[in-house]
Amino acid sequence: MSRFPDNFLWGGATSAAQCEGGRCLDGKGLSHLDYVYYRGPKGFCNFVLKEDYEYAKEHETELNFPNRRGIDFYHRYKEDIALLAEMGFKSFRMSISWTRLFPTGKEEKPCPEGVEFYHNVFKELHKYNIEPLVTMVHYEMPIGFIDEFDGWLSDKIIPYCFKYMKFLIDEYKDEVKYWLTFNEINMVCAVPYLGGGIILDRYEPMPVPSSPKGFKLTEEANRKWDQKSHQALHHQFIASAMIVKYAHETAPQCLIGNMFNLHHLYPETPSPENAFRAHQETEFNMFFSDVMAKGYYPKWILSYYRKNGIDIKWYDNYEEILANGKVDFISLSYYLSSIVTADPERQEKIGQFIRRLKNPYLKDSEFGWQIDPIALRISLNELRDRFNLPIYIVENGLGAFEELGEDKTVHDTYRISYLRSHIEAIADAIEDGVDIIGYTPWGCIDLVSCSLVSMSKRYGFIYVDADDEGNGTYDRYRKDSFYWYKKVIASNGEDLSD
Ligand code: BG6
Repeated sequence: MSRFPDNFLWGGATSAAQCEGGRCLDGKGLSHLDYVYYRGPKGFCNFVLKEDYEYAKEHETELNFPNRRGIDFYHRYKEDIALLAEMGFKSFRMSISWTRLFPTGKEEKPCPEGVEFYHNVFKELHKYNIEPLVTMVHYEMPIGFIDEFDGWLSDKIIPYCFKYMKFLIDEYKDEVKYWLTFNEINMVCAVPYLGGGIILDRYEPMPVPSSPKGFKLTEEANRKWDQKSHQALHHQFIASAMIVKYAHETAPQCLIGNMFNLHHLYPETPSPENAFRAHQETEFNMFFSDVMAKGYYPKWILSYYRKNGIDIKWYDNYEEILANGKVDFISLSYYLSSIVTADPERQEKIGQFIRRLKNPYLKDSEFGWQIDPIALRISLNELRDRFNLPIYIVENGLGAFEELGEDKTVHDTYRISYLRSHIEAIADAIEDGVDIIGYTPWGCIDLVSCSLVSMSKRYGFIYVDADDEGNGTYDRYRKDSFYWYKKVIASNGEDLSD
């Protein structure tokens, strides 16, 4: 007997910006991730400062923009979906590209080729009984909104985004049951360009948290950062709640979830100071879902705003809008845990992002992400108690540098072992009484890495023959994990053996 429910949604996850390619085809406009350029196989690219952005625009013809190519899902979706179906997928997480439908974001009517493309993708998925799970905004917005509005900093973006989201519900409500509004909504506070299209000036430099150099922000810089990111976040909360309400009224068959990056935190030692710090950071991690699932700002964050001079310009009737737009389920990405200390010398706060300290009890991925399935089980239990809503785990996985062997495959035993331990933790959480409805590991087919903006960091069950410069056949190859995951799905999570 499987510990997973019969209708458990096994699958995998992608995003349009990282896999579709076909950037300017069939009327598509450019979006903000299309201006993030490649800086070498280990160079962080998405922490965009003003000068990076201006440089990218000035040197558009010379620079390498891997997101513009993706893995050419735009032309190969039938082949890709057939491979996912071969693994037995029940669910496929994808996003719709805002600029494939509304190239500048301002058009009255969507681009017909784009509309048709997504109908075709959904049709192909349904052919194999794969349930689409669609993110409305996965790190994408029309590029013009950055120059005109400073991204999500301005409330002027809300009506345009609402028009786009409303179109999605009206057009696709009978083909898509599960929706997410914003991917990893908490990222606007950690990585303002990525999550909110906000370009930082030099006075508020973007840290590279995993860089050994790092640097400290002044208190003033931290405050400015907080001010901008929380204002932008407020606008995203509003847009999200507005579309949830609209969908509930017009398409009751649809279920809409939030999506946040779950970051489990332990105190470094049992000292009360460290424990309190871990508690505070955990509350902050949960705050995003609090607003979207409970429909109001918790008191502590309002007090944090007051104490830190953060002056939010509240949207008209925001309390009512949030209260009427509560999500139907909780969704999350989970990759790692870390530890916190109250010692300011050893761990600083950067905007709302804490520098990670290493947990000596855990192993690292080759990118320094600490592997911790038990933290997932703990957090799932906490989420059950806090929200009492179904939970969809829509991202998890192991990124690694990989090359296709002479035998035309990749022996990714490390990925199998990572996924096995996390699936076991999910099964344990289900036994603990957590209502988990699905699991879609990230990058089920190799795609462009978000942080490195390169093909080198791979997550897939399926290898894509493309390199960082765009060379390669783009042909697809099954890795060892492909066959392993197929068995896992066929046994409904019971057979996790090699
Ligand atoms: C999540 C994002 O944060 O992590 C994805 O939603 C991203 O878009 C994934 O690709 C993995 O991150 P990375 O940087 O390894 O690609």
